[in-house]
Amino acid sequence: MYFNKIPPAVNFIRQASNDQAAQRSSELTQLGEDVFRYRIESSQWEQKSQAQLNLDCFKDEQVRAQLSEHPHCGLTLQFKGHTLLRSFPQREFGTLGQKWAMSFEYNTNMRFYGLGEKNDRLEKTGGIYKFWNTDTIGDFGTTRVRTEPTDPMYVSIPYLLITQDVGCVGILINNPHATFMNLAAKENIANLLDAKDNEQQTIHLGAYDGTPEIYFIVGESPRAVTRKLQRLCGTTPLPPLWSLGYQQCRWGYRDLDDLEALDKKFDELEIPCDGLWLDIDYMDAYKVFTVVKDGFENHRRRIKALQDNGRKIVPIIDPGVKYSEGYPTFDSGRENDVFCKTSDGHIYSGFVWPGRTAFPDYSQESAREWWAKQLEQYTTEYAFDGYWLDMNDPSTGSAELEDMCFNHAQDSHSCFHNQYAYGMQQASRKGLSAAIQQKRPFILSRSGFISSSRYSAIWTGDNWSNYFHLKASINMSLNLSLSGIPFNGPDVPGFEGDATPQLAVDWFKAGFLFPFFRNHSAANTRQQEPWAFEDPYRQVIIHYIRLRYKLLPYLYHLFMEHADHGDPMLRPLFYEFSHNEPRFDQLEDQFMVGPAIMQAPFVHEGEKTRSILLPAGSWWDARSGRWLAKQSELNIHADLESTPLFIRDGSIVAMLPGERKSQQSDLSDIECHIFISEDYQAPATWTYRFDNGETVDAPQSRLTLQFKQEGESLMVTCQELALENKTLNIRFVTHGKFNELHLQKSTQCTKLLQEPYPIRLTGSTITAQATAPITFKDPN
Ligand code: GLC
Repeated sequence: MYFNKIPPAVNFIRQASNDQAAQRSSELTQLGEDVFRYRIESSQWEQKSQAQLNLDCFKDEQVRAQLSEHPHCGLTLQFKGHTLLRSFPQREFGTLGQKWAMSFEYNTNMRFYGLGEKNDRLEKTGGIYKFWNTDTIGDFGTTRVRTEPTDPMYVSIPYLLITQDVGCVGILINNPHATFMNLAAKENIANLLDAKDNEQQTIHLGAYDGTPEIYFIVGESPRAVTRKLQRLCGTTPLPPLWSLGYQQCRWGYRDLDDLEALDKKFDELEIPCDGLWLDIDYMDAYKVFTVVKDGFENHRRRIKALQDNGRKIVPIIDPGVKYSEGYPTFDSGRENDVFCKTSDGHIYSGFVWPGRTAFPDYSQESAREWWAKQLEQYTTEYAFDGYWLDMNDPSTGSAELEDMCFNHAQDSHSCFHNQYAYGMQQASRKGLSAAIQQKRPFILSRSGFISSSRYSAIWTGDNWSNYFHLKASINMSLNLSLSGIPFNGPDVPGFEGDATPQLAVDWFKAGFLFPFFRNHSAANTRQQEPWAFEDPYRQVIIHYIRLRYKLLPYLYHLFMEHADHGDPMLRPLFYEFSHNEPRFDQLEDQFMVGPAIMQAPFVHEGEKTRSILLPAGSWWDARSGRWLAKQSELNIHADLESTPLFIRDGSIVAMLPGERKSQQSDLSDIECHIFISEDYQAPATWTYRFDNGETVDAPQSRLTLQFKQEGESLMVTCQELALENKTLNIRFVTHGKFNELHLQKSTQCTKLLQEPYPIRLTGSTITAQATAPITFKDPN
């Protein structure tokens, strides 16, 4: 498959919507809430997508958009009296053998985002893209991956978000075959020669095979569309709290001695760290579901000791099963007939770490069950806490992929390729859940597909320790976040290559609040643990790891909100502020972490100063601890210790108390930081929710406070309090005009116990009392 070419619109033949001779008929369904499905049924194509889409979650009422169909599968999408999208005349829908494509008119007001995992620009106008899960280094080679964007990547989410002044639309192609998009690209060769007959720029999208099934999700804003996309594809279930902590990994950690040494070092340097990860060397001859013989003596006792000290152990798992008789996993797989076949019906072989390998055929329910069982038994033996699924693009070394067939050789490679990792994620989550029972499972995967995030987080694969990849990591994570894969993050500070201390510091500062935060590095590169960098760099790295832990209640809360409403944790500025403000369209080095925190890290080598765009309103500057005078732009000088980080006016941010020197985190003992400037008048309410961070269906505790300004004081009313057998200790910290907080009588909560500092709110059954004003002083 050519990666940098796609079938252009000119080669497709226009087709009618309904063609009896070709047994083709179109179907347009309004799913409700301005979400539509357009599908073309034909005996020519099959729908093999296993994505789990919730078609019934939208209500019929609240319809403001209209999608109408014209002959030749032409579509017009109207929203509040404006045309959002219209088929390109004569190129509405066409076929080219098994391939199909649709073209839409482009206008210069349109901006393009999403597309899942792409490592080029944030905004995609003018790009040509393909969706075909790829092992990037394996397929593009190290030279290209090191310095250039590569397409396609590991994860395929054929989803396009188009924003325009008049409204936004998300277009999701539910198709597991290779898919493609041309987003108003000028055709290259004609463009070079400045030819007059340039093809007109259009939005051209389609697939190499498979039933055309496209979802159009319409909304006022990127937020409205993203929330509906998440409802359609499923949100990320609330993960265990530990998976939001810092994770330490390296290709080379091979046994319990290594992990014990890490455990000791993290304690000694008082660096919080939740996860200790094992890469492929921990396996016996790279055989999945084994461990090296000389590294896991007394494993039960030793793993428990690590866990008792607050660590979680996460080993890598590759799908490739060593082709070797006498190796129980291979024998059992062959006996149960779970491996992928060639078209002749033999077990398909590729070449991965163990040499010749067979691949579980996750397209089949029975193979997924088999895999889940293997993983369950393995977990029961070793008590591992989570799994890291790699090489599931799938990566087959020098072996051609198209010979790998599915479903007992009845299905072609291409109809399941992009779903391979997705099947592995489902099976692995099931096996892990069965073993750990009430605990929440955590799975990380390299590749993925539509609705993958129901099962697994994604890391963005093999990047490089350089500034190109540092910068790209922001665009990638933001677009993944807009595409239904919010729990994601890169290897910090880069996987391949040697990180300079300055790069490491810059990457930790930029990445310490990403949803997933793991330090990982390749074999034969310099050590990358925090202590591998000399002072003062080391101290700065440690500071940002500790700061992440301080902000853990806020981050966890964002995950809770995501599970309920679908907002991603990491957001481009246009998500929180207006998508009609052109200055945010292509802003690649500033982003929001939830609604309250804006980061603007230094991501260019040697950059000494940078300018920062400030959305309207007042911003609290974490570097100076002061409110910025109202301005739209700001210039900042780089320094080693700090990073540009700002808090939005009116924000209340939950944090853990003090400086965090260990990973032990108690969500029922927090600081409530109130950021309200002189300019902010409106009363704000704040809800803090937490649970035990660990078990499935854990009951949630909830506190809602209402804040209201009265003169120089801030009146705090407790609106709602529901605590699950726990107390909630809150210390209030104000950053702004208020030096006094007055905790007020409340009718909603039944009782409020008060102490001068901290206030302790206890139990849901206690009766509220009128309180005399209590004065809190900002401890800073
Ligand atoms: C792949 C993974 C990388 C891992 C390596 C060895 O390159 O992407 O994270 O360290 O394999 O297992």
